[in-house]
Amino acid sequence: MPSLEWLTIFFVLLAPSLAQEKASPISEQCGDVLTEPYQPLQIKQSADKDCTWDIKRSANETTRLVFSVLNLNPNADCSQENVTVSDENLQVLGVLCPNSPQISVFEAVGGLSVRVFTDSNTSDRILYLFYNSFATGSEPVSCGGNTRGISGTISSPSYPNRHPDFAFCVWHLDAPKNTKIQLSFTEIFLEIDPLCRFDFIAVYDGPSTSSPLLDLLCGRTTAQLETSSNSVTLMLSADYANSYFGFSAAYKALPKSNTTSLSCSGDEMTVIINPSYLESLGYTADELTLTDTACGPLSSNPVAFIVPYQTCGTVRKLEDHTISYTNTISASLARGLITRRKQVQIIVTCELDGNTVVEIMYTTEDDIIQEQRDTSRYDVGLSFFTSETFVTPVLESPYFVDLNQTLFLQATLHLPDPQLTVFTDSCFASSEPKFQAATYDLVRQGCAKDDTYHNFPSGSGFARFSFGAFKFLHLHNSVYLKCRVVICDTNDTASRCNQGCITRHRRDLGSSKWKANAVVGPIRLGHHTHNDISESIGEENGSKAEHGSFYLFGILVLVANVLIVSLVVLRSSRKQRAAYRYHPVPTQ
Ligand SMILES: *[C@@H]1O[C@H](CO)[C@@H](O)[C@H](O)[C@H]1NC(C)=O
Ligand SMILES: *[C@@H]1O[C@H](CO)[C@@H](O)[C@H](O)[C@H]1NC(C)=O
Ligand SMILES: *[C@@H]1O[C@H](CO)[C@@H](O)[C@H](O)[C@H]1NC(C)=O
Ligand SMILES: *[C@@H]1O[C@H](CO)[C@@H](O)[C@H](O)[C@H]1NC(C)=O
Ligand SMILES: *[C@@H]1O[C@H](CO)[C@@H](O)[C@H](O)[C@H]1NC(C)=O
Ligand SMILES: *[C@@H]1O[C@H](CO)[C@@H](O)[C@H](O)[C@H]1NC(C)=O
Ligand SMILES: *[C@@H]1O[C@H](CO)[C@@H](O)[C@H](O)[C@H]1NC(C)=O
Repeated sequence: MPSLEWLTIFFVLLAPSLAQEKASPISEQCGDVLTEPYQPLQIKQSADKDCTWDIKRSANETTRLVFSVLNLNPNADCSQENVTVSDENLQVLGVLCPNSPQISVFEAVGGLSVRVFTDSNTSDRILYLFYNSFATGSEPVSCGGNTRGISGTISSPSYPNRHPDFAFCVWHLDAPKNTKIQLSFTEIFLEIDPLCRFDFIAVYDGPSTSSPLLDLLCGRTTAQLETSSNSVTLMLSADYANSYFGFSAAYKALPKSNTTSLSCSGDEMTVIINPSYLESLGYTADELTLTDTACGPLSSNPVAFIVPYQTCGTVRKLEDHTISYTNTISASLARGLITRRKQVQIIVTCELDGNTVVEIMYTTEDDIIQEQRDTSRYDVGLSFFTSETFVTPVLESPYFVDLNQTLFLQATLHLPDPQLTVFTDSCFASSEPKFQAATYDLVRQGCAKDDTYHNFPSGSGFARFSFGAFKFLHLHNSVYLKCRVVICDTNDTASRCNQGCITRHRRDLGSSKWKANAVVGPIRLGHHTHNDISESIGEENGSKAEHGSFYLFGILVLVANVLIVSLVVLRSSRKQRAAYRYHPVPTQ
């Protein structure tokens, strides 16, 4: 193995010349018909061209086309100069303009065609592209994936061994809201090419490959990158030869501000503290705990706390129909008589919006309802039950029902808090998923609009209702249902949950107040003893500052808008999906 490594390094040192050799000869031809299963293409075009390269592949194959160099006349107008990529049926998959990103990927079942138009400018245009075709549904290399978390590592397939040829991997990393991601490539060892034409990693600053390109990496190097938001997308594209050891990258979430960040979700709060901030206060992560001192940090690099809503000393408060959860991160008090360190307290509060949206879909095809549930976890789930006892959830999928069969639905809150209840405010149906067509109301503002709608009493953490299955006349068999449910404190007698049907003349209490997605409160200096911190939440002025020593603390408030989507996929949509054969960028 070591000798193999040295041999590889030796070849890598020679790689620029290898790369030259590998780069296909520059083709100045105007168009061609390509029948190889894979092929790199280096295209040079001059003025006033309209040339088409036709990649011919059989219908049981998928063709992936990767552009890694796109040098058009930068001053040209896209309507005069562009690269148009179409599938076999001449359906346009995408148009690359002079200002398009350097890297683009297209995929289609069967072949593809690339049509290059140039304007009258006499300069040379250069394109480098590589296509590869493979049996539809069987990626040459299985890799990539979606990851959610505060830290981890990702690496190329087979790392630290050579990555396979034809590897095409897309990774999405998601960190908590209000953070940014630091990516540290400890090793990159990909085919060397000054333009990264052959094997490369493209790093995008955002959730997809259409986000801005943060960096394009290849060769033998390391790199440190930082995103501007809490998601990043990495794409590894490898061609047919010269594979080396790939890459390995560690990532971690850091607060977007230089102090702390808070992110609230339906089941917990996540707090990330900037290590240099903590250091500037003279503390280390393991000195900090939540209110319940048995609850320490989840990790020390990054410094992160997971704050459960139910334990660790989290205090729940009901104010003006809004439920908030508060905890405090602080350092244990120093033993002995004196300390020269500032007392640090980070107070975190999540306010959960009581309004939440649940979507579900069913179809009546041959008077049959089919459903398949999304496996993602959400704050409120909507599920079918077999009968009005709501004992047996419908687990099998698809779920077959008849038209006018009574359907029993339960919206369940995933936060096991006996003080919370759920109320179905509105549910409406549409024949299409975006709810842009005419909608049909089952219940609106708590008032039944459909004769078959029946509301069952809510209980701790759930709401239940039933209705008779229907379909839209003269339209698809699919019916999409969207429900707005309200979550209330059972002690709050004036809450929306206790108001039932609201007519136009009555005010919808507590639903308009919390529209914002996120509010991050001030971090400020003030004077507090350990005990009076909680009283000062919400104060805007550090008015007690003159009383003596300064304690630094922060208040972070985040209002989480709880959006729940319980997606039911139908037979008809599955058919559509099977027929959905291409997408301009494979990661959308
Ligand atoms: C022609 O192309 C060259 C190089 O791409 C560019 O510098 C020049 O500005 C272009 N001229 C016009 C008129 O677009
Ligand atoms: C691409 O260029 C061709 C030739 O000038 C033009 O007909 C076509 O409309 C352009 N496409 C776009 C999307 O501008
Ligand atoms: C695709 O179909 C052709 C016949 O059209 C067949 O020869 C070939 O083996 C098939 N390829 C795959 C990967 O199934
Ligand atoms: C945070 O950044 C601000 C400016 O953006 C700076 O004034 C402040 O000193 C920084 N604080 C820390 C703890 O680094
Ligand atoms: C639908 O079912 C309800 C009772 O569940 C029944 O009263 C009604 O007659 C049925 N309608 C049709 C068209 O079968
Ligand atoms: C709600 O009421 C119960 C008893 O009725 C009480 O024990 C509980 O503390 C109350 N909760 C809040 C948040 O007021
Ligand atoms: C904070 O104090 C200043 C003066 O001490 C005052 O002008 C300001 O209105 C106060 N702000 C709030 C939100 O109380």
